Amino acid sequence: MIQEDLFKKLIAHCKEYGFIFQSSEIYDGLSAVYDYGQNGVELKNNIKEYWWKAMVMLNEEVVGIDSAIFMHPTVWKASGHVDAFNDPLIDNKDSKKRYRADVLIEEHIEKIKAKISKEVDKAAKRFGDSFDEQMFISTNPRTQKYNQQIEEISTRFIKSLEEENFEDIRNIIIENEIVCPVSGSKNWTDVRQFNLMFDTKLGSLAEGANTIYLRPETAQGIFVNYLNVQKTGRMKLPFGIAQIGKAFRNEIIARQFIFRMREFEQLEMQYFIKPGEEEKWFDIWKEKRMKWHQAMGFAPEMYKFHEHDKLAHYAKAAFDIEYKFPFGFKEIEGIHSRTDFDLSQHQKFSGKKMQYFDNETNESYVPYVVETSMGLDRTFLTILSSAYREEKLENETRIVLSIPEPLAPIKLAVFPLIKKDGLPELAKEIMDKLKYDMNCHYEEKDSIGKRYRRHDAIGTPFCITVDHESKENNTVTIRYRDTMKQERVPIEKLQNIIKEKIDLKILLEKL
Ligand code: GAP
Repeated sequence: MIQEDLFKKLIAHCKEYGFIFQSSEIYDGLSAVYDYGQNGVELKNNIKEYWWKAMVMLNEEVVGIDSAIFMHPTVWKASGHVDAFNDPLIDNKDSKKRYRADVLIEEHIEKIKAKISKEVDKAAKRFGDSFDEQMFISTNPRTQKYNQQIEEISTRFIKSLEEENFEDIRNIIIENEIVCPVSGSKNWTDVRQFNLMFDTKLGSLAEGANTIYLRPETAQGIFVNYLNVQKTGRMKLPFGIAQIGKAFRNEIIARQFIFRMREFEQLEMQYFIKPGEEEKWFDIWKEKRMKWHQAMGFAPEMYKFHEHDKLAHYAKAAFDIEYKFPFGFKEIEGIHSRTDFDLSQHQKFSGKKMQYFDNETNESYVPYVVETSMGLDRTFLTILSSAYREEKLENETRIVLSIPEPLAPIKLAVFPLIKKDGLPELAKEIMDKLKYDMNCHYEEKDSIGKRYRRHDAIGTPFCITVDHESKENNTVTIRYRDTMKQERVPIEKLQNIIKEKIDLKILLEKL
């Protein structure tokens, strides 16, 4: 399927089957803000549970917190977000559209990379089995020229960003003849910095200091509580604090559905370590987090690491875990080496000591931090993108979401074959027993085939049908989502058959 079509289909599917709705839809919606529907919220909660158990339950030295969204405004001054959490923006004077200058340049680089791939494909066809891709790329004059262009643009762009030389960023756009995708023109304004934090007013603060921010990351709630947790939990380094919560960013180019939102959810963990051990822990957490994603069982080649060349203001090293969305490889999680930047800044701005006393060495120091920061909404989108399939059957096409069983919104659908002869009563009786162990759904409308299709489309892994034979010998047919195989099983065995297949342990044991 063409990837663009797949993405459009996914968006439509999310709406049609109660996963995601546009926020305030009856008022024409609010750009880049979405609501999760009855199936979406279940999937989202299951992802959160999988993450929480993987981070907090499986790692003895990691504990969780839930900090407030509103924080003292000085937090954001100390963290650097007031001064440095900016995007460089540029407007096209003809289309009146606003863009992130860095994204325009990155997209231009991607286009040059695509030209290299085209040359490689052509040559591979020409040379057949004897083709050596690396050799070709390094010796072919055209690919050499393209690589040199990429190198020149990237180096100049990173330097300009570091020096906040916005005039040069604009010049890169002009000199590379980057045009507005809407108007096609090169009629650009100057580049300006734009802070991504939303602000609001808090009545009770002293005059002049009443502007507060909606947090742009959950991490700061962890940093300011690090000593509270360390002391009350008698934690010894290394230890981690995990948190799940909403974050808010006034994104300028909010597109690609739930990929870039203005209100989204993060799952973050700050791992506090002894200075000097950051490389070791960075590598450990990088691998652990990749494993977490891959344990869901989708094709491993859908994930890759990407090393940042443009670092956030707090980071010393950063890798993204990227997923191959229908619109290309994009970040779903960041692993950052944040040094003692945040804790030292809070120590400076609050005047409170942020040091840890190390019993073993008898010294006090500010710990270093390695952070793992995953976007819930983006992870949700990876699952839907990988799980969505259109299968050609004899007389129809079935749409199925092959969501890993432990994460599926509804685990079991219970159908009476017909709406009489005591079958609905027996079906409900079965469901009443099983509903304590799994999310069940009862349906009696339409043919069994239609009911199967509806549940395939929302990823329900098991459907059982209660028929006349069920009344005679206490058995039902169970039907499996992915294989569509059906078998007769005793009612009393249902709980065991299904429970072990939907247990999160299946994913957790792979970590
Ligand atoms: N505390 C570090 C931090 O916030 P980040 O790379 O800016 O790092 C972490 O964000 C993750 O949050 C990203 O990998 C992404 O999955 C998610 N995220 C960031 N901005 C987002 C947005 N506008 N919409 C949806 N998810 C977003």
